[in-house]
This record gives sequence, structure tokens and C-alpha cells, in this order.
Amino acid sequence: MEIGIDKIGFYTPSYYVDMAELAEARGVEPGKFLQGLGQSKMAVPPISQDPVTMACNAAQDILTDEDKMAIDYVIVGTESGIDQSKAAAIYVHDLLDINPYARCIEMKEACYGATAGLQSAVNHVARHPESKALVIASDIARYGLESSGESTQGAGAVALLITTNPRIAQINDDAVYYTGDIMDFWRPNYSDTAKVDGHYSTVKYLDYLDKVWQAFKEKNQLALEDLQAVCFHLPYTKMGLKALRQLLPEATDDQAESLQAHFENSRYYNRYVGNIYTGSLYLSLLSLLDQDSQLQAGDRIGLYSYGSGAVAEFYSLTLMPGYQDHLAKADHEAMLANRNRLSVADYETMFSQTLNVDGSKQELAAEADVAFQLVGLDQHKRLYSRRQ
Ligand code: CAA
Repeated sequence: MEIGIDKIGFYTPSYYVDMAELAEARGVEPGKFLQGLGQSKMAVPPISQDPVTMACNAAQDILTDEDKMAIDYVIVGTESGIDQSKAAAIYVHDLLDINPYARCIEMKEACYGATAGLQSAVNHVARHPESKALVIASDIARYGLESSGESTQGAGAVALLITTNPRIAQINDDAVYYTGDIMDFWRPNYSDTAKVDGHYSTVKYLDYLDKVWQAFKEKNQLALEDLQAVCFHLPYTKMGLKALRQLLPEATDDQAESLQAHFENSRYYNRYVGNIYTGSLYLSLLSLLDQDSQLQAGDRIGLYSYGSGAVAEFYSLTLMPGYQDHLAKADHEAMLANRNRLSVADYETMFSQTLNVDGSKQELAAEADVAFQLVGLDQHKRLYSRRQ
């Protein structure tokens, strides 16, 4: 039985800051952000977008009424969730009008949460082939103004509908995973920004890639030449380039050139969005599928998922015949092209806005052209709106 990705949706907020301008404001050479990190723009969420609304905005366009009746498992992978107890997936389930006879949970392990959700969804659908599962990766990456990680922030969500007979890609049963207790990146409950040991985190990301990649090849008796492309978790796109370069000595010259060309397509959207934690790997996959005209049905794509703390996983998927007909490339490009550019001062103001924490009533301004947004707070409860 083939199980995999039937549809993919994407959302990023409608504001961004230009990385060259941010570099200038921080007294840094623009080349450091543009080439050194491989980032051109960084998505900035208004206070009315949170992981719940971004998840709904990513999923709404891909779901038909029939899908909503068939979905009985909703998983939101996030590490910037809005509540310590109640799962973001419950709000999403309600706002999207999904069948009430559904399981709804939130999955957390840093940037790895959505991959854990996806594999859980595959297992669920294998046992209940008539059902569908909705997995959404939704995050706001926040390190703080003028912090060491500021240039690697971002915001957005990617929604994946997991079904039998998928139209985009089959998820192969070949995953290898690895866990180790390390402090490379974390966020204590009392902090709304991440703590990070930046350079150590990049070393561990590459170290864990080596561990799961070697084990993946051994377990599945596969080699790099069996993969037509590899997508990586992209906290910033240069990180993926370093990861690819770590694998390339195993490739012939021709294959190395081809893998590098595919990689450029796989980092295109991420370069304009920034880090979206759980969604970064899946945004990279979407970017590859949308932007790459050389891939074909039957091609096998490797995926490297890394969540600090840390859990890493390497697995693969195989593209289905006609997968190109089930993508919304023009919509994704339009979403990125139609965003509003913020000055650094306006980005700082937007970044610094806060929600009331004393239970008092707060009303937020209506956003134009967005289906789901946070409209306010009352007695510690979030109030969401849905525009039809
Ligand atoms: N022109 C071109 N390149 C330049 C340059 C210039 N003028 N100036 C500097 N550079 C290059 C540097 O040579 C360097 O390239 P290499 O890494 O290839 O050597 C690159 O720009 C970055 O320079 P620094 O290492 O000096 O930058 P930094 O000290 O500001 O740290 C960072 C960068 C560690 C990524 C930091 O932004 C950070 O801590 N980010 C958050 C943590 C992170 O993203 N970690 C990734 C792995 S963990 C993970 O993946 C989970 C997750 O999502 C967080």
C-alpha cells in the first residue's frame, strides 16, 4: 500500500525585512547575511499571526469538504506553541471545520516535531487506510533583537495531507533516527526567545547528519547515487549547503553537479522566509517540487530532519506520476512577492508588540487578505476569526 503526501499547503505572514538592510542596521557586512548565511529576506509575523492561525492559513486552500470529513488525525508540530496544555491542533481542527471524530495533538521536539508527526500519520493511515491525516508544521523563530541568532529568524507554516494513494509523493519505509541529550538550542518555559549555542549547534547538526546518513545507507543498502535530490532542515540556507557538501565526496562529478542544482531549487523559498523551525525541511521540499523542472516521477528524494536537543532522522520519499499537477507554484510565488517590506525600525516595533498577560481584554487590528487571524484576548482566552 502506498502512503504519503497527497497535498501540500504553505503560508507565511505578509511582512518581511530585507536582510541587506538588517545587516546595515546591525553594522554587519551585507555579504554575511546574503552569502554567509544564504538569506535574502526574513518573514516577520504581526501580533495577529501565531502558530494556530498560520497553520490554518497553510491548510485551508488544500482541503476540500471531503478531505475535512475523512481527516481523523490532526497533528501540529511546533516549538512556539501558544499553550502549555491545550494542543494547537484543537484550535486548528475547529477553525478548519474538521470531522469531530478526530484525534488532535501537538508534537514537540524542536524542529523535528513535524517529522515525528508525519511518521505517526503514516502509521495511522497504514492501520486505517480509509482515513486521512493532517500534519502541519507551524512556527515563529524568535531569538531577540540584536541577538546572535537574529538573522536566522522567520515565521510560517507548511501543511501536509497524508493519505493512501498519494498524488505527490510516497513516503518510504526506510527512516533512520538518532537521539542524544545536548544543549545546542532550547527555550525555557519562562522565555519567549530561544537560547542557543550557535556554532556548537551547527557542528552537532552536521555530526548528527553523518550518524543518520551512514545508518540509512547501511540499513537500506542504498548509496547517494540512489537519491536524485536531498532536502535538509534549513535554519538558514547555507546550513543546508554545508550539509550537502558533507555528502558530496561520495558522488561522481556529474551527480555532484546535479545534486547542487537541485539544492539551489530546494533553498529558494527558504531564502525569502527564514527559519520556520518545524516547517523548514518541508518548505525546502515544497521549494524543490515547485521550482525544479528536472525532477521526474519515480525519483527518490532524501530528507534530513534535525531538531535541536537533539533528534535527527533521515528518510526518503518517491515522487508520484503527475505530481506536478498537484502543486500551487504560482500561488506560493505570489504570496512571497506580495508581502510588505518593513523598515528595520518597523520590524523592531512589530517584534516588540506583546499580548496582555493579566487577563484583560485586548483587541487586535484586522489584517487585510488573510483568512485566519488572532483578533484578541479576553480572560486569558485567545479569540480567532475566520474570513470565508
Ligand atoms: N561575506 C560573505 N560571507 C561572510 C561575510 C561576508 N562579508 N562575513 C561573514 N561571512 C560568513 C562566515 O564566513 C560564515 O560562513 P561559514 O559558516 O561558511 O564559515 C557565515 O558568514 C556566518 O558567519 P559567523 O559564523 O561568523 O556568524 P555568527 O557568529 O553570527 O553565527 C549562526 C551564525 C551560528 C548561524 C547564528 O546566526 C546562530 O546562532 N543562529 C541560530 C542557530 C542556528 O540556526 N543553528 C543551526 C543549527 S541548529 C538547527 O538547525 C535547529 C534550528 O533550527 C535552530
